[in-house]
Amino acid sequence: MKKRSVVCGISSFLPENTLTNFDLEKIVDTSDEWITTRTGIKTRHVVGDSQYVHDISVKSAQTTLERAQITPEMIDCVLVATTTSEKRCPSSAARVQDMIGAKNAFAFDIQAACSGFIYGLAIADSFIKSETCKNILLIGADTLTLFTDWTDRSTCILFGDGAGSCIVRAPTEGDDRGIVTTKLYSDGSKHDLITIENSEKNCFRGYMTMRGQAVFKCGIENMYQAMVDVLEQTNMTFDDIDWIVPHQANKRIFDSMHKIKGIPIEKVILTIDHHANTSSASIPLALDEAINSGKVRQGDTVMLTALGAGIVWSAAIVKL
Ligand code: COA
Repeated sequence: MKKRSVVCGISSFLPENTLTNFDLEKIVDTSDEWITTRTGIKTRHVVGDSQYVHDISVKSAQTTLERAQITPEMIDCVLVATTTSEKRCPSSAARVQDMIGAKNAFAFDIQAACSGFIYGLAIADSFIKSETCKNILLIGADTLTLFTDWTDRSTCILFGDGAGSCIVRAPTEGDDRGIVTTKLYSDGSKHDLITIENSEKNCFRGYMTMRGQAVFKCGIENMYQAMVDVLEQTNMTFDDIDWIVPHQANKRIFDSMHKIKGIPIEKVILTIDHHANTSSASIPLALDEAINSGKVRQGDTVMLTALGAGIVWSAAIVKL
């Protein structure tokens, strides 16, 4: 039986404040009907004043520790996948490490945009397999609404804030649950499709800009190819996958993938209607919700896939 890095304690946290499409109608020239039909989004959560990536990460992490039944001292690495830390440095991971009292852990951030959580799984898997670590706290958290140009209707309708987390831990004898495979990709020639510029003299935050249609096309092609690659790598087919939990960027990406590529849409878990695009948090947020609702169960095999700024994209198969 293969020894795999176990993923447990999946949890998430959403800030209390919400912003509906109807609220957005009052800010920019848009409509609930346009946003719903073009993206699938109805509402999103947004951070409050003085609420940053490390704050929402800690909320999610505390539930993860309870669910995984481990103490902060048992954690030997804290990874935070994020593009939207409060400060350029120190890292959000270092803040989280201190705030939860993980005094035996080293900590760093992963900047892989919306692909950050899967990049984090791959990094955690390597640390576990090399026996560098036994218990890794992996968090995906973003606050893109703090980097949103609220006068740009083509982007400000897309994003929400949130955090999701899990423990990646060393395998237990006789247990085949865990990370089956991961695959990471990058094509920096498409660096200008999604950007957050540094602002002048760093006095203000830069805003997100995106070439939506080009990203949409990459989303379909690249995430589909990544899923096919990890299936081939493991001699599996979509029949062996119980659920597909993708990065939640636009509902139509997966409708099109179903129409053009024939992916089993009934297996795709979508929470974009009430989460919007939460970047590196979107996969653990969707997973946690699906587990809590009883849809996804222990022992299920899930396929994860994501694409974001870079462009960087990825896929993973995990037996929960
Ligand atoms: N409300 C109303 N109209 C809007 C609008 C809004 N919020 N945003 C754009 N429009 C208008 C445009 O101005 C344009 O008008 P025009 O035809 O008069 O010029 C029209 O709607 C079509 O715009 P377009 O950009 O072609 O829309 P689209 O169907 O491509 O949808 C996105 C835009 C952003 C929703 C879509 O491209 C998308 O989701 N892309 C992928 C995002 C993604 O995957 N991100 C992942 C990484 S973060």
